[in-house]
Amino acid sequence: MSSASPAAAPDVTNPDVVLVVDFGAQYAQLIARRVREARVYSEIVPSTMPVAEMLAKNPKAIILSGGPSSVYAEGAPRLDRALFEAGVPVFGMCYGFQLMATTLGGTVDNTGAREYGRTPLHVSKAGSTLFEGTPVEQSVWMSHGDACSAAPEGFAVTASTDVVPVAAFENDEKKLYGVQYHPEVLHSTHGQQILEHFLYRGAGIQPTWTTGNVIEEQVAAIRAQVGDKRAICGLSGGVDSAVAAALVQKAIGDQLTCVYVDHGLMRKDETEQVEKDFVAATGARLVVVDAEKRFLDALAGVSDPETKRKIIGREFIRVFEQAQLEILQEEGPEVAFLVQGTLYPDIVESGGGTGTANIKSHHNVGGLPDDIEFELVEPLRQLFKDEVRMVGQELGLPEEIVQRQPFPGPGLGIRIVGEVTKERLDLLREADAIAREELTKAGLDREIWQCPVVLLADVRSVGVQGDGRTYGHPIVLRPVSSEDAMTADWSRLPYEVLAKISTRITNEVADVNRVVLDVTSKPPGTIEWE
Ligand code: XMP
Repeated sequence: MSSASPAAAPDVTNPDVVLVVDFGAQYAQLIARRVREARVYSEIVPSTMPVAEMLAKNPKAIILSGGPSSVYAEGAPRLDRALFEAGVPVFGMCYGFQLMATTLGGTVDNTGAREYGRTPLHVSKAGSTLFEGTPVEQSVWMSHGDACSAAPEGFAVTASTDVVPVAAFENDEKKLYGVQYHPEVLHSTHGQQILEHFLYRGAGIQPTWTTGNVIEEQVAAIRAQVGDKRAICGLSGGVDSAVAAALVQKAIGDQLTCVYVDHGLMRKDETEQVEKDFVAATGARLVVVDAEKRFLDALAGVSDPETKRKIIGREFIRVFEQAQLEILQEEGPEVAFLVQGTLYPDIVESGGGTGTANIKSHHNVGGLPDDIEFELVEPLRQLFKDEVRMVGQELGLPEEIVQRQPFPGPGLGIRIVGEVTKERLDLLREADAIAREELTKAGLDREIWQCPVVLLADVRSVGVQGDGRTYGHPIVLRPVSSEDAMTADWSRLPYEVLAKISTRITNEVADVNRVVLDVTSKPPGTIEWE
């Protein structure tokens, strides 16, 4: 029935945008985040974007990211010299630095002299725009094959390494700067300071960007987009949808209806958090659909992980669309907008640094005219996850929602190895609640990325409790540390905390007589068991 078309969301024009030109690999996102940590608004653009288009965005500065290529490789990305002649301050890093050097007439040698990892940097001009106030010897993160041996004319060489004669150059007159290394990674001990020096001293930008401004700008933008029409927002219990809904609620109040599908696979107290705390904090109108039975019926007899995922996804869309339909029937064609918690990394990763997300929901429920299309409202599309949390905090959302660790959409359904039943879910909910409580008490929430608690429902082992022999299920603890869930390592939790969790779970959760710790990194293991 309903489909959602990419919205003509009014992009908030920020007067102080810094463009990060993406030359590949994963550096651009990190640089963009670091620029925002310096309280300057940044956006990522592809290196294929014509320079005229970049300049049309009226950037206050441009940063050229690193990338996997050698400037000598065939087909390696190039840059139009015009970029350096427009009077816009430019900072090149790694590949961006070498590109700057070759484009402006410096020398980059394909010497095979490689540097990789932590490298000592010797600063030769201590009071320079980039290096002022930082030590003459500092550790930086290198990752390159080619090396710059002569800076372009008009540039001062301000740092070197044992291998690279020109590891940094600066031209204050033209406001062009570059470093061979990666200031954006934490291993470069003064990297953030050097980036800030470029932004504040080199480019003369004031650090004024805050998430507070984002709220004001987005509220205005949402009002302009939605007008006097109505919007629907699906809440998942996660941070993104909650913050998106709270922002839209702030902008258009009761013109927004939130829908929460309770699939019965949530953790203990999480549905209540949405039903009570979210509503109390935002005053949002909320429709809760109790679909537990429907989901459990659909999952009956199913053990295969992928089949479970498919069933949960399918049922979710059906229930959500049914709710949409009812709201539409009640409120009429005024309902024209669908709120989504799309984040900036989603936009960048889907290839559209400046484009719109392309989301279409399936056509499953009959009864709604086919030509009804919801326009998307995506108030978080410029934000990174940590910024979303800050916005949520400023909007007064409960800490439990704002600081919530990642939790999979299919919920506990994929943390029961075996068939999903109500009894097993209740049992897992108890064990999970104990683990979460103890980790929070021990102050470990920020240290771990997430800690799936898994019930091996198809496994039994012998135990002894009181005077009797037991034959119960094991619970697996899977605490992991990670930056982005793509790779992860198992968290080295203190033994006392593990002991406490284990004792409590085996004492307090019936039918569980063993607690085991998953000590597998990702790869080869995934974070979830299913
Ligand atoms: P894996 O298990 O692949 O998980 O290492 C990586 C991250 O993704 C989460 N995850 C999911 N999230 N729907 C979601 O919304 C899913 O089906 C799903 N599967 C895994 C997982 O919790 C981890 O953060």
